[in-house]
Amino acid sequence: MAVVLGPFKLDHPFILAPMAGITNSPFRRLMRGLNSSMVVSELVSANGIEYGGPKTLELLRFKDDERTVGLQIFGEVPEFLVKACQHVERLGADFVDLNLGCPVPKVVKKGAGSAMCRNPSELGKTLKMMVESVKIPVTIKIRTGWDESTKNALAVVEAAADAGVRWVAIHGRTRAQGYSGLADWDFIGDVKAKSPLPIIGNGDITTPEVAVQKMKTYGVDAVMIGRGALRNPFIFEQAYALWEGRSFTKPEPQRYVDLMDRQRAFLSEDYNERSAVIHVRKFLAWYSAGFPGSAEFRKKVFSEIQPEELWTEARKFFGATASLRDYKFMAEPFLMGGHG
Ligand SMILES: Cc1cc2nc3c(=O)[nH]c(=O)nc-3n(C[C@H](O)[C@H](O)[C@H](O)COP(=O)(O)O)c2cc1C
Repeated sequence: MAVVLGPFKLDHPFILAPMAGITNSPFRRLMRGLNSSMVVSELVSANGIEYGGPKTLELLRFKDDERTVGLQIFGEVPEFLVKACQHVERLGADFVDLNLGCPVPKVVKKGAGSAMCRNPSELGKTLKMMVESVKIPVTIKIRTGWDESTKNALAVVEAAADAGVRWVAIHGRTRAQGYSGLADWDFIGDVKAKSPLPIIGNGDITTPEVAVQKMKTYGVDAVMIGRGALRNPFIFEQAYALWEGRSFTKPEPQRYVDLMDRQRAFLSEDYNERSAVIHVRKFLAWYSAGFPGSAEFRKKVFSEIQPEELWTEARKFFGATASLRDYKFMAEPFLMGGHG
């Protein structure tokens, strides 16, 4: 049951959601290897691309084994957004995604992120310029609306379709909601039913069962999973199995040990040992939710620890206890803030 999004034929509809500071190239490679059906970078500033800041340009790096891979941009200056699309195309990414969901005050105050959706016809003009400037697909990721009284996602989808955008991902919360409350999947389903474009639904998918249930209930073309993948990095292959009518078993301890080794290897290509340790700590903490002894393990991970010792401890911890993991933890809310 392959899924078609724009020109891409994906094995299945379960996709890692973009997350700033998290979905960098090493993590995207890891998740592609664990069967996210495609990947997208975190938001990258179009203004930053214009000025060529080294940190900005670093965020745009990707590797071939990530394909199908998109790079996500944001900004409020149409001319810079167009140039950013062309830059992304020159880098060889498969598609360029515009962040229209970011609720962060610093971003919306300037008129970027979710603020751009307040005026769909103006947004449509910018999108058309972007689409016409490149050959690769231009896609967008939005929220349901600015606030409860302006849930205008359908108007945004229609403007995007007129402009030639290829698909729309919808995080089912308004900008005003931030990360509180629950994603409004009925609303997403309603937009999908009326949409001329493929719709990717997103928000609060914490288990493979929920991922499949959202697909079946709301008729969306695909779903994105963000925070759920941080606690359960195997969620994509598990959802894929259920989607195809196959069953899956809990990952064996060795799968977690392999996860550690792969994450270490990917990080080592882009980071020095010390920075890799600082970066990976939060991942180890997320993966460890529901494991016996996780509080103790997290304390160790965040202590003054040498890189070799950290990786040895991590392999030991997950290798010994993975079969005892308590999955009830999965639905508890965490990481209640982000850029989309
Ligand atoms: C820490 C964090 C960073 C995020 N950064 C981005 C981002 O750069 N671009 C984006 O479109 N969405 C971003 N998001 C939003 C997610 O892609 C997703 O829409 C949201 O987390 C809801 O999905 P979930 O419940 O599956 O996590 C971020 C979310 C979090 C938690």
